[in-house]
Amino acid sequence: MGKGATLAIEIKQDAREPVFLALSRAIIAEIERGRLKPGDPLPGTRALSKNLTLNRNTVDAAYHELTMQGWLVAEPSRGTFVAGDLPDFGRESALTEPADADGQNVRTHRQKLNISDGLPDARIAPTVPLGRAFRKALTSPPFLKSAYGDPRGCLILRKALSQYLKDERGLTLGADDMLIARGSQMALYLAASAIAEPGSAIAVETPGYPLAWAAFRAAGARVVGVPVDGGGISLKSLERIAEREDRLRAVYVTPHHQYPTAVTLGAGRRLRLLDLARRHRLTIIEDDYDHEYRFAGHPVLPLAARADRSAPVIYVGSLSKILAPGIRVGYAMAPPEVLRRMSDRREAVDRQGDVFLELALSELIADGTLRRHVRKARRVYLARRNHLAALLAKHLSHVSEFVLPAGGLAIWLRLNPGLSAEAWAVNAADLGLSLLPGVHFSLGPARAPEAFRLGFASLDESELAKAVRLIAKSVPGA
Ligand SMILES: Cc1ncc(COP(=O)(O)O)c(C=O)c1O
Repeated sequence: MGKGATLAIEIKQDAREPVFLALSRAIIAEIERGRLKPGDPLPGTRALSKNLTLNRNTVDAAYHELTMQGWLVAEPSRGTFVAGDLPDFGRESALTEPADADGQNVRTHRQKLNISDGLPDARIAPTVPLGRAFRKALTSPPFLKSAYGDPRGCLILRKALSQYLKDERGLTLGADDMLIARGSQMALYLAASAIAEPGSAIAVETPGYPLAWAAFRAAGARVVGVPVDGGGISLKSLERIAEREDRLRAVYVTPHHQYPTAVTLGAGRRLRLLDLARRHRLTIIEDDYDHEYRFAGHPVLPLAARADRSAPVIYVGSLSKILAPGIRVGYAMAPPEVLRRMSDRREAVDRQGDVFLELALSELIADGTLRRHVRKARRVYLARRNHLAALLAKHLSHVSEFVLPAGGLAIWLRLNPGLSAEAWAVNAADLGLSLLPGVHFSLGPARAPEAFRLGFASLDESELAKAVRLIAKSVPGA
């Protein structure tokens, strides 16, 4: 809002509710549709009451109510503002629900609503401190020296990240055990190229993460699928594969939140996995891509955090789910010899990391911005998880089921027998909604699960509601 502007606003009043509540709802609606943005000033109560021909006490009461709910903040002697920690709902790509009163227009609308596989919402990323950190990085000595540095990445970021991982995830490895990569994607490729000679195999979860399979294949490895059940990777199947495949070198797992089912690998299976890896001399590649988002139960530490190091673990993580996937910073922690090979290979294709970005990110970790952002993101995404779960229970329980995930950024929605996720996704695409069906995560078409992975973090509550309405409209055969 411009300085000194007043607020023309339509109040839809219901005779049964007090006027201040109707005004509160109207202001929330303006925030949600992006007209009022985080940090925007609201008109003074005198001006607004005059403008809307309301009693000043009514406006006071509405502001008070919205301040209590966290939509507004009152700053003494400055005025009342839209809370700064809300997402900016008014981004350019406003999502359009088809004008479907008559059911005709839906195929003509072009803007797509995309349910991701679990992306964060870059709209809430700490862009102001990040901008400040970028400016500072540009004038900092390591950047101005403009020399080539360590292919493992800037020491200052490796120190900051390894300290963060020690505090938050119980990892005791240090800066020398870490390599910064352009996203965990590069780290996965380097890991495979460091441990698997051409033709050797890496066991992977199925359903699982296709981009990891692509990285392993690009490094010359074969991938062998291990089925996943309601408790995560099947260790019986892995044991059989390890006995049969004498060129099996590694197993790739997502134990914290299995991708795509979101299941957490329990303590028993973790111990059996470590034991199996030790007996068959396998390296465990642990992809802990969205560790921060744990909403229930006790913290579960990574396999790499255990005291007993009898089975080697390459631990891979990323800032993509904390900040945004456009910030290409991931990392790996590995035993010294493996890390050296990874570093040599990295140097061969990309002499060093992005010093400017790495310095800026180390600043965000050092000044506490990253941790604060994680706390805020966890709060926002928990509300979105609960909102999506409530919508699914209300609108889709007759055709599907899900287990509320204790963590992660997606719900795995399993369809009732006889329903095809692919056919459903095609119908949804016709309505402008893109959805990821189970086949997308399946190593062999024979075992494709009839399910959807529904990422909830990148959509706000009204976008989630639109998405679920469109999913419900696209049930095959309905
Ligand atoms: C299983 C898994 N691992 C890793 C990543 C992160 O990839 P990157 O760090 O390359 O952005 C993702 C992102 O979607 C993921 O789903």
